[in-house]
Amino acid sequence: MCVCKMRPYTCLSSLILLITFLFTCVNSEDPYRFFTWKVTYGDIYPLGIKQQGILINGQFPGPQIDAVTNDNLIISVYNYLNEPLLISWNGIQHRRNSWQDGMSGTTCPIPPRKNFTYTLQVKDQIGTFFYFPSLGMQKGAGGFGGIRIWSRPRIPVPFPPPSGDFTILAGDWFKLDHRRLRRVLENGHNLPFPDGLLINGRGWNGNTFTIDQGKTYRFRISNVGLTTSINFRIQDHKLKLVEVEGSHTLQNYYSSLDIHVGQSYSVLVTADQPVKDYYVVVSSRFTRKILTTTSILHYSNSRVGVSGPVPGGPTLDIASSVFQARTIRRNLTASGPRPNPQGSYKYGLINPTRTIMLANSAPYINGKQRYAVNSVSHVEPDTPLKLADYFNIPGVFYVGSIPTNPTGGNAYLQTSVMGANFHEFVEIVFQNWEDSVQSWHIDGYSFFVVGFGSGQWTPQSRSGYNLRDTVARCTTQVYPKSWTAIYMALDNVGMWNIRSENWARQYLGQQLYLRVYTPSNSWRDEYPVPKNALLCGRASGRRTRPF
Ligand SMILES: *[C@@H]1O[C@H](CO)[C@@H](O)[C@H](O)[C@H]1NC(C)=O
Ligand SMILES: *[C@@H]1O[C@H](CO)[C@@H](O)[C@H](O)[C@H]1NC(C)=O
Repeated sequence: MCVCKMRPYTCLSSLILLITFLFTCVNSEDPYRFFTWKVTYGDIYPLGIKQQGILINGQFPGPQIDAVTNDNLIISVYNYLNEPLLISWNGIQHRRNSWQDGMSGTTCPIPPRKNFTYTLQVKDQIGTFFYFPSLGMQKGAGGFGGIRIWSRPRIPVPFPPPSGDFTILAGDWFKLDHRRLRRVLENGHNLPFPDGLLINGRGWNGNTFTIDQGKTYRFRISNVGLTTSINFRIQDHKLKLVEVEGSHTLQNYYSSLDIHVGQSYSVLVTADQPVKDYYVVVSSRFTRKILTTTSILHYSNSRVGVSGPVPGGPTLDIASSVFQARTIRRNLTASGPRPNPQGSYKYGLINPTRTIMLANSAPYINGKQRYAVNSVSHVEPDTPLKLADYFNIPGVFYVGSIPTNPTGGNAYLQTSVMGANFHEFVEIVFQNWEDSVQSWHIDGYSFFVVGFGSGQWTPQSRSGYNLRDTVARCTTQVYPKSWTAIYMALDNVGMWNIRSENWARQYLGQQLYLRVYTPSNSWRDEYPVPKNALLCGRASGRRTRPF
């Protein structure tokens, strides 16, 4: 390990380091997959009326990414929009490499008419995730797509290979253009109620999934919407849950699944019903007015279209959702990305070094609707935090600008950065005093969801934790007037976004950055700034790489 306090090029060992770097992060054993994406505006008609969508290579939703554990993904993005663009990768951990995270606190946007190449490694990951454009409300115009990370060939998967593997990107949709959605928020108002739900970019019966009778299929469902929890179900068919954001689960059967914004689930569905067509249904959850949309599950030899009422699902009821959440557990004897069973990591035997509590709120600041965490409503810095940190640019942010516990004080605007040390093992409690369901996401990590409870969390709440077989995932819900507790091993150095996946709340300040820090300055802990890094704000014109 090289401890290099000077600029790297003045350090004699830098050449050796460079060689080490080339062998560690450009690992010749791990395959490369190359993608070229042209991002444009184009006409889409998801709810029957023409809208301007964000297309990738002409597609809405964008192309699916298929990768195998440890693959290097080289994704060249050409921005043909007339505004800046950033692509973020929900659930990809970017080990040692928050430079690729694609949030405005880590990376400069790709300016119009420019290109940028993301270099991601899906190190030690499997499972179902998605990507999306992270700036403004662009996610409300498309630009998202599925990511499937397959197990390496010799790693056992705890179910037989399915006969097909379908991706379902579902979520709420607004007829308002993404710029107008942003203007609504900037004017200090909340978003209107969504106009509908989409499945893979289409409305009512807009997709057909064709299956053969007697066979079993995997459906990977992600909620890519802006604000609304959804319920997923298939008429007359059971859903056998097998994977949640990279964790293989106990294979329980469900008649329907709640999927909060930003979450991903895999289920197996066996075509064990009479030959005909069936509804695949998503409906809005916890909304007074219920939005519903359907696709068609088509038995290949069926001549009978869908019939019967669209099956109903849970709507306002919260207790059933909490109950279901507690049944989602990890299969302790199944492999994850490595051959050893994933449950061999005994998170429940480790004592957290500290407890961080993050409480969301919806204050008015200067007469405008904002959202806050521990009274701090995050505002974008003029320079990405990661770059400000790297170049030691003062005045962009300070570590500790958000308290680690709620203060009860008045909310204020601030660029919000919390400090943490590499190798800490933390307990984070998301405390929700509001009436709405929250969905929290942490970039760069997979965390253990140890408990859901109602009311105010107290140290006694720990007695109800699942310290044995909960799932590790990257996005968790918090029920109204309730808390959710997670354990997280801070084993990934970087500047990581912690955010509401409700994109209106995120945009209006319900987010922060966790700066996981080590003084070591070693490339074994964190990669140096990429040589193609875009520079902006006060980092413009700096030198990124001396070599
Ligand atoms: C991509 O951008 C770089 C500069 O950032 C430029 O040198 C390169 O020519 C661009 N590639 C294409 C194909 O336009
Ligand atoms: C857990 O995984 C093992 C190993 O693949 C498998 O045999 C078993 O059926 C799974 N158990 C449950 C309850 O899902």
